[in-house]
Amino acid sequence: MESNSPKNLPRHVAIIMDGNGRWAAARGWPRILGHREGARNVRRMTTACQDRGIKILTLYAFSAENWTRPTREISMLMQLLKIYAVRERTTFMKNQIRFQVIGDTSKLPSEIQKVLKDTIEMTASNKGLILQLALSYGGRDEILRAVKAMIDAKLESEAVTEENFSKFLDTSGQIEPDLIIRTSGELRLSNFLIWQSAYSEFYFTDTLWPDFNEAELDAAFADFRGRQRRFGAVDLIAKPHLN
Ligand code: FPP
Repeated sequence: MESNSPKNLPRHVAIIMDGNGRWAAARGWPRILGHREGARNVRRMTTACQDRGIKILTLYAFSAENWTRPTREISMLMQLLKIYAVRERTTFMKNQIRFQVIGDTSKLPSEIQKVLKDTIEMTASNKGLILQLALSYGGRDEILRAVKAMIDAKLESEAVTEENFSKFLDTSGQIEPDLIIRTSGELRLSNFLIWQSAYSEFYFTDTLWPDFNEAELDAAFADFRGRQRRFGAVDLIAKPHLN
């Protein structure tokens, strides 16, 4: 089927999962029920991406700015995360999913860090989809951490190239996102993968994250297929560090 041809699919898909709170509010429910449904949709969309042959799925699950939310909402999100990272282990192993995390995880509660670390280690040799959660993640913070690491590594100024710099980012060694999706009608990047998105295609939809489904995912991929990616050149060229 043409629509499932790996040739035309994004390899790395990144999603800003927005609108959980509004989804719950529309039902007169507390916000956490929106996050719970959002977490369920993480499962559905992971399977959908895996079925479609996507290589990396990066999900913005908790931003550096989300620490300013009410303490109760933060602690409930952390609980959801913990339950998720433990419960999904069986599925990750069965489906060969490799679980990874980007962001300043040192800011997460230690019990969450432990659970994440165990899941990361358990799935480290899996060869299928890489499922990457951005947690306590901010693009500017990631860039500053990379700059500090580069200084610590005492790199000569001539060695400060785009290619070398990207090796100090949390996404070191990964293909950059081909497609970034944001749900819920907001038209912003909100500090998500700001270095890595230099040549990404964007897809915005009004659909709230808990309602974002396979049909919408396919619509985003179909839209992506219709784009001409030139990476700043006249003709489509391959950029080695983007491949
Ligand atoms: C945005 O909705 C979403 C978040 C801040 C967090 C995303 C979290 C999940 C999808 C659930 C937990 C994830 C895992 C992997 C267990 P919002 O609260 O900003 O919605 P609003 O803009 O409508 O208020």
